[in-house]
Amino acid sequence: MHIRDVLRGKIPEDLLRLVPSSFDIIGSRERAVAIVELDDALLPYKELVADAIFEVHKNVRAVYRKASERKGEYRVRELELIKGENITEVAHMEHGYKIKLDVTKVYFSPREATERQRIASQVKPGETVMVMFAGVGPFAIAIAKKQPAVGKIIAIEINPDAYSYMVENIKINKVEHLVYPVLGDVKIEAPRFFNQCDRVVMPLPKGAYLFLDEAVNCLKETGGWIHFYHWSREEDLFTEAFRLVSEVARKRGFTAELRGARKVSPYAPRIYKVAVDVLLTK
Ligand SMILES: C[S@@+](CC[C@H](N)C(=O)[O-])C[C@H]1O[C@@H](n2cnc3c(N)ncnc32)[C@H](O)[C@@H]1O
Repeated sequence: MHIRDVLRGKIPEDLLRLVPSSFDIIGSRERAVAIVELDDALLPYKELVADAIFEVHKNVRAVYRKASERKGEYRVRELELIKGENITEVAHMEHGYKIKLDVTKVYFSPREATERQRIASQVKPGETVMVMFAGVGPFAIAIAKKQPAVGKIIAIEINPDAYSYMVENIKINKVEHLVYPVLGDVKIEAPRFFNQCDRVVMPLPKGAYLFLDEAVNCLKETGGWIHFYHWSREEDLFTEAFRLVSEVARKRGFTAELRGARKVSPYAPRIYKVAVDVLLTK
């Protein structure tokens, strides 16, 4: 059943079309929180929306409303508790691994689980992988679980709360021998790993291009893969993203080939978060 069906007859008929058709549920089958984006016209009915969510999703203990855009370096948004228990820490299950996080302190999107699997399935045995902007560790852990023969995964994150959760998530998922977490700024920390990596993942659509020099320099002399995230307009999703990577690659004497491209998720009207997979060779 959809929450719109539960709300029929409880809120004005003309507002039903504004009821969100999807929203994030973060957590497990036992205990989760829901995060909804509500049109202003629905705000007088927000508690009824929360009740509908509780009715349809029995594991949801708290319903939060997005109260701001994602902000600042840590890409965290304000949340308003509409109804339920005041819990903010949950353990999210996806593809057989567990990601613990506080929804008010760190970035995490359950909608990107497929994208994480898409990247993880490209990693080959023995590779050294750099995950920049690693958050609470979902890319690093997805890779370690899907490709346990990976050489090493270096995961750099600047938000101390996200880093602490990443360290805990690495332990929970028993991948301490594969994932090496680093607290700090990619600009400062990445140079320690120059010329060492086969693959660099750059999941920061707001500004990953500013770190392309570091990413390309992390690759081995022979080259490797860059998975680059960017915000792009609907009418031309991949040209600019590929151009940005190619320009930096060329500076270091690499040839860049666009091997994959994906629309990851909508960001704003007619703007999408996209990913390009670029192979750099000499
Ligand atoms: C869009 S989130 C992605 C997090 C994670 N990769 C995921 O998919 O859930 C970007 C992350 O990059 C971190 N970040 C932003 N600027 C950074 C920098 N200069 N160095 C390291 N981490 C940074 C933020 O704190 C945030 O956790």
